[in-house]
Amino acid sequence: MSAGRIPRLGATRGLHHGLLVGDLEGKTGLIVGVANKRSISWAIAQAASAGGASLVLTYQNDRLAENVRELAATLPNVTILPCDVASDDQITALFATIEGQFGGLDFLVHGVAFAEREDLATPFSQTSREGFRVALDISAYSLIALARGAAPLMEKRGGGSVLTLSYLGSQRVFTNYNVMGVAKAALEASVRYLASDLGPKGIRVNAISAGAIKTLAAYGISGFSGILQAYRDKAPLRRAVDTSEVADAAVFLLGPTGRAITAEVLMVDAGFHAMGV
Ligand SMILES: NC(=O)c1ccc[n+]([C@@H]2O[C@H](COP(=O)([O-])OP(=O)(O)OC[C@H]3O[C@@H](n4cnc5c(N)ncnc54)[C@H](O)[C@@H]3O)[C@@H](O)[C@H]2O)c1
Repeated sequence: MSAGRIPRLGATRGLHHGLLVGDLEGKTGLIVGVANKRSISWAIAQAASAGGASLVLTYQNDRLAENVRELAATLPNVTILPCDVASDDQITALFATIEGQFGGLDFLVHGVAFAEREDLATPFSQTSREGFRVALDISAYSLIALARGAAPLMEKRGGGSVLTLSYLGSQRVFTNYNVMGVAKAALEASVRYLASDLGPKGIRVNAISAGAIKTLAAYGISGFSGILQAYRDKAPLRRAVDTSEVADAAVFLLGPTGRAITAEVLMVDAGFHAMGV
């Protein structure tokens, strides 16, 4: 887990600007996707908070509310609000509350994905129409809906940064990743179209493609431990990654150090994506 203040890059690398990686002092961020302490979004929340940001964390439903409330209580300046991304009304209400409370928004983290369990265990050709619809709606369309809600609030701050979480299954076949791979391909294409659309307003849109990590979402994928082992065996760094490593890259993209980066999918996967056989 990210702990304490983020180190000053300039101290070791002679940076001219004196920028701090992950310096989010005075910024307000919305983080959608915390389910429990293993969530990638929770690690990003911790790193963003360590960088000085005030945060809004959302919870998907009442079942997860208590988890999120308990985690939020460990950080300063955190507001928690409900948001099921399948509901346009909840998304509208979320941004209305944020506007009322903060008057603007500097960054948005989208760490949401869902597919029906059977679609992550059966042959891909068996994907149902409804399973496809749900996976694409929750895992890809929700980025568009949230970015649309965030954009006017980011304009009030003179721009902003949107970040989503993807996986290499968007480009390569991973056993049982199935419809989620298709959803991630749609998500990454949405990153580029949103970046083009919102860039003139000073809003950047990027994705991190994270290596495999054992989280709640990962438990839904049959044979996930085999995928994890492949990172240990084959990745250039001969290991998997952890959520704090994804979070460090996230705050780099969210903050001023990422100010010229948009429409990008940044691989944070110990180099696994580069390997063939
Ligand atoms: N764990 C991995 O190996 C890995 C690798 C690369 C990318 N990712 C991506 O990272 C993101 C976060 O996943 P994670 O691994 O931290 O698992 P996670 O289960 O902790 O997070 C997934 C989140 O999606 C939320 N969610 C699902 N349906 C929702 C809905 N209808 N409304 C609102 N929220 C909803 C869940 O509440 C949960 O908080 C996902 O997009 C996932 O695909 C994960």
